[in-house]
Amino acid sequence: MGIAIDIADDWHASLAALAWHVEAGVDEVTGDGPVNRYDLSVELPRRTAVLPGAEVARQSGVQDPRVELGSSVDAVAAAKALAAQAQTLDELRAVMEGFDLCELKRGARNLVFADGNPAARVLVLGEAPGAEEDREGRPFVGRAGQLLDRMFAAIGLSRTSPDPATALYITNVLPWRPPGNRDPEPAEIAMMRPFVERHIALASPVVIVAMGNTPLDALTGQRGILRARGTWMEVLGKPLLPMAHPAYLLRNPAAKREAWADLLALQKRLRG
Ligand code: URA
Repeated sequence: MGIAIDIADDWHASLAALAWHVEAGVDEVTGDGPVNRYDLSVELPRRTAVLPGAEVARQSGVQDPRVELGSSVDAVAAAKALAAQAQTLDELRAVMEGFDLCELKRGARNLVFADGNPAARVLVLGEAPGAEEDREGRPFVGRAGQLLDRMFAAIGLSRTSPDPATALYITNVLPWRPPGNRDPEPAEIAMMRPFVERHIALASPVVIVAMGNTPLDALTGQRGILRARGTWMEVLGKPLLPMAHPAYLLRNPAAKREAWADLLALQKRLRG
């Protein structure tokens, strides 16, 4: 079935309209007039973004604060300049809210910045928000997050604890949900890495736990979480413990035994 629909200006309204039509059995979408997609003579407008903190960006080597979207080199330089500007976690959240160079932001409902106690000794770094996190604006609130909470509770750590010794601080490499929960792309990880590094510097945890391949990659440049898990590393002057992602543990319950060993290793390190 095919019908013509008006696409609203608002992204979420458009998505809701499309979802409704798909549910109603529509499998073809047409416009009012025919479009010749082979006609390359029409030049599309180039999209540019005006960065907040343009002066800082300029001083830090970004020549022109209007950075072309799609240019990952400029986006990384801009992210570095902006991240360096933030002197507190609130400022970091603000500069990330204003960062328009990551395409993921356009499809996300909320920036998912962090949750838990920023004074915690343990910082948990995840991959990216899923649908529930995107809706709530908090990391790890879906099924994987519930497992994460149970895992850390088993060694006496909680995101709701006011005591830094028993608290958790939780954030992600990407603050915006990738469409359809696809894996983050290398360019997206590279673009957001300066914010992650600044986040860690400002929160200043005693230990970092990298949950899954994306945070392992963002912090160490290596992948292969199932090989790396349980092996202590050092990044940004801090001990790093890679662990399997709780979503992986939900799909592979047999791997929970190794995750438990990793949690005990973390507990031992914190006691020592
Ligand atoms: N998975 C993650 O890595 N992070 C979240 O916030 C949710 C699921």
